[in-house]
Amino acid sequence: MAEEEQNNGTDGAVVAAHGHGDGGVSAGTAVIAADAVQNPGLPPHRQRVTDTNPKKAKGAERTVYTLFYVSIVGSLGAVLAYMFFPMESGELLDIRLHTLFVGLGMALGLLALGIGAVHWGKALMADHESIDERHPVSSSEEVRQDSAEVFRIADEESGFSRRSLVRNSLIGALIAFPLPGVTLLRSLAPQDRDPVQLLKHTMWESGVRLARDPSGVPIRASEVTIGSAFHVIPETLNHSDFEELSLDERGGSATLLDAKAKAIVLLMRLDQSDLKEDDDRKDWSYNGIVAYSKVCTHVGCPVALYEQHTHHLLCPCHQSQFDVSEHAKVIFGPAKRPLPQLPITVDDEGYLVAQSDFHEPVGPSFWERLK
Ligand code: FES
Repeated sequence: MAEEEQNNGTDGAVVAAHGHGDGGVSAGTAVIAADAVQNPGLPPHRQRVTDTNPKKAKGAERTVYTLFYVSIVGSLGAVLAYMFFPMESGELLDIRLHTLFVGLGMALGLLALGIGAVHWGKALMADHESIDERHPVSSSEEVRQDSAEVFRIADEESGFSRRSLVRNSLIGALIAFPLPGVTLLRSLAPQDRDPVQLLKHTMWESGVRLARDPSGVPIRASEVTIGSAFHVIPETLNHSDFEELSLDERGGSATLLDAKAKAIVLLMRLDQSDLKEDDDRKDWSYNGIVAYSKVCTHVGCPVALYEQHTHHLLCPCHQSQFDVSEHAKVIFGPAKRPLPQLPITVDDEGYLVAQSDFHEPVGPSFWERLK
């Protein structure tokens, strides 16, 4: 047991202890315990087979660049799979094949790249232990020169400049790896068609009955009482007949879900005296019954909350509010234009029918700026 007295101006106030027990230190004396575990140091260095056998080193190099080439093949394979296994048909089998092969290509690209990099580090890069001593965090000229030297040594020891096949194949793999991700962005844009026309044209046309969502039962004007609201789809939008419709009759949509997403409507009845209608749109409503697109003009959420006393429609996504009594104009929130109105009337049997399609694109305002 040993104590070393440190002079801080008060005799015996601080003691560094190098063992257990108080060693007779008097009460009130601070004791600094020395580290009880000795630093074991670094284990003896063992050379790898690639350090001693140039043939093995060459073999490892071959493995590394082969893996990088495999990564390139995987990434490009994902791009080809995207092109040769399209899923635009909406068929379950097509979607499965598309996701399977694009996924396999991307997985191969990433996996081979990762394994190649790890193998390069473990088998070929310098293997000696190096100790980076702590130093003040400053960037003096001397430090910068040291850093440059470290990079130079790292380059020399990793063989980044020297092993051109490994380096170039790695660069190729890194360039090819993001390509599948970029390719997938293509799916965000409509295929071969003008997006304005695509969103403007829905399944609504003159004479199409307004039907309840999801049952598809047509709605009579007499069933819509003041204050009520209906979620509405075109009567022609039903599962059994959809496949028989032409693309034009489907409103340009390939799948039933797309067609429904564009054509969905909210139907409400107000007291006629509460409606403030423009002259050119007075005949778009019937006895106080009005129909508006349910797709929010902000970023396309369904506007589904109707407050009958205020005649306000609320979009739950970002709280845009629309005034149904005034052509669904925006009264609050980030939406920039009113909900498109569907002109309606009744047929001979008293069922509510559309007079025409919407007169403007449904959904987010972005498309109208392309006009
Ligand atoms: S989507 Fe309706 S407010 Fe944002």
